[in-house]
Amino acid sequence: MTRDEMHDKLRQRQEASRLGGGQRAIDRQHERGKLTARERIDALVDPGTFRELDAFVTHDCQDFGMADKKIPGDGVVTGYGRVDGRLVYLFAQDFTVFGGSLSGAYSRKVCKIMDLAVRNGAPVLGLNDSGGARIQEGVVSLGGYADIFLRNTLASGVVPQLSAILGPCAGGAVYSPAMTDFIVMVEKTSFMFVTGPDVIKTVTHEDVTKEELGGASTHCGTSGVAHFSVPDELAALALLRELLSYLPQNNLEEAPRLATEDPVSRVCPELDELVPLSANQPYDITELITAVADEGRFLEVQADYAGNVVVGFCRLGGRSVGIIANQPAHLAGVLDVSSSVKAARFVQFCDAFNIPMWVIEDVPGFLPGVEQEHGGIIKHGAKLLFAFCEATVPKITLITRKAYGGAYCVMNSKHIRADFNFAWPTAEIAVMGPDGAVNIIFRRELAAAEDPVARKAELVEEYREKFANPYRAAELGYVDEVILPRDTRARLIEAFDSLENKRDSNPPKKHGNIPL
Ligand code: HXC
Repeated sequence: MTRDEMHDKLRQRQEASRLGGGQRAIDRQHERGKLTARERIDALVDPGTFRELDAFVTHDCQDFGMADKKIPGDGVVTGYGRVDGRLVYLFAQDFTVFGGSLSGAYSRKVCKIMDLAVRNGAPVLGLNDSGGARIQEGVVSLGGYADIFLRNTLASGVVPQLSAILGPCAGGAVYSPAMTDFIVMVEKTSFMFVTGPDVIKTVTHEDVTKEELGGASTHCGTSGVAHFSVPDELAALALLRELLSYLPQNNLEEAPRLATEDPVSRVCPELDELVPLSANQPYDITELITAVADEGRFLEVQADYAGNVVVGFCRLGGRSVGIIANQPAHLAGVLDVSSSVKAARFVQFCDAFNIPMWVIEDVPGFLPGVEQEHGGIIKHGAKLLFAFCEATVPKITLITRKAYGGAYCVMNSKHIRADFNFAWPTAEIAVMGPDGAVNIIFRRELAAAEDPVARKAELVEEYREKFANPYRAAELGYVDEVILPRDTRARLIEAFDSLENKRDSNPPKKHGNIPL
């Protein structure tokens, strides 16, 4: 064979691999409103940076006529590339090849790039679009999934793992994305479920569509399994890029600090009027976040789930910061089962990846009720408490209004290692609100009063004067400083700057036992 012939042979093999399941399958993929694996990679990484590995790998299944059906690459495209110049490892499941189903060889390809990512300290991005275990391969395929699950677990907290769901994701296959840090789903074309509508019909006689069972709105709004819902695939890939900009490459690094035109000492006078004087009137906490953040930019995570707590990323003075905020505009910002779990997981992520936390507190307490108690609010609320206690990254709390009861302790109070606790003059820090407190401690006196309504008003005022303010906590050093709302941005940035070299750690142990 001449050199030219050898080179031609390589090109032919590369071309065959690039075609995946062939032009007809590619056309069908487009007709389904989906991009191919390679088109997705092109939209995700910086142009010209993708380097594919294992393009010629094929399966080794001999059963069900599979020996004659070998497609180079075997249904998954793997390799590495750059996002904003930073290294990422990725795999893109190719639905045009055996429905993107997972074989033993396919699993070894995915495991190879996961191992490389951990060894080289770079994120893993998974673009999922697959019919699940390759049925012809039986237990080999199941073992292949388990090999990936193990790597997901070992990589957790070492490198960021991000998943986009861009098609079906069924059976045990959902557990790999579920163990990654963030899941993005595309409306209408992506689904996640352990068992599909047909099996459900047989077992429980329930009628449900794929979309209702496991579509983007279900998992972003009802189950809380996914974190972002976007209208199309390009938006999903753009979101992965944006999300990466807030994250470090691995747990030994810090997130990149980006230059900002936004002055660090910018005053925010609009914040002086944000908190209504009446304690029962809501306001939108995201107005505070966007007023303070660099260029007003805030990437909210799980925006459609448990809206009483708001979590997400912003930059302050160019530094990436994770925000955990009570939302008075939704259920008065109360902590319940779903909001506690949502916030706890986010706190754990930030702590694992050295992202400082800004906690904003306006919380009337934990939600009372039989449903909450029977739903395990004790253990779920404890998750959030545990996560904040354990976190050693720089942690700053700002109390804007209510910090009542157990929720005062939980929301990153000074006592659980917050570095700085600021309060606005509107802060109310007490065991409970004035009305409830007076009803309890003056029950007898009120029952005996000549004019109980007038007496109660007096007592409420007295209690408010004494406790419904930030000054008792400030006298005790539980609040480091009471600041004017307008100065919030400048004070936060200064405080985070001062914490730049913070060192703190937990006692040596195998791992803690967070109340799951
Ligand atoms: C082998 C598969 C496959 C699979 C799809 N294909 N799923 N081949 N193993 N799991 C093939 C189809 O035969 C077809 O091949 C091609 O992929 C495209 O599939 P279609 O059915 O034509 O596409 P569509 O109508 O869009 O439906 C997609 C689908 C459906 C919803 C994913 O194919 C489906 O329900 N597949 C089976 C899903 C499933 O039960 N998987 C096992 C889950 S259990 P041709 O040659 O006709 O183009 C599991 C266990 C994991 O995953 C456990 C880990 C612990």
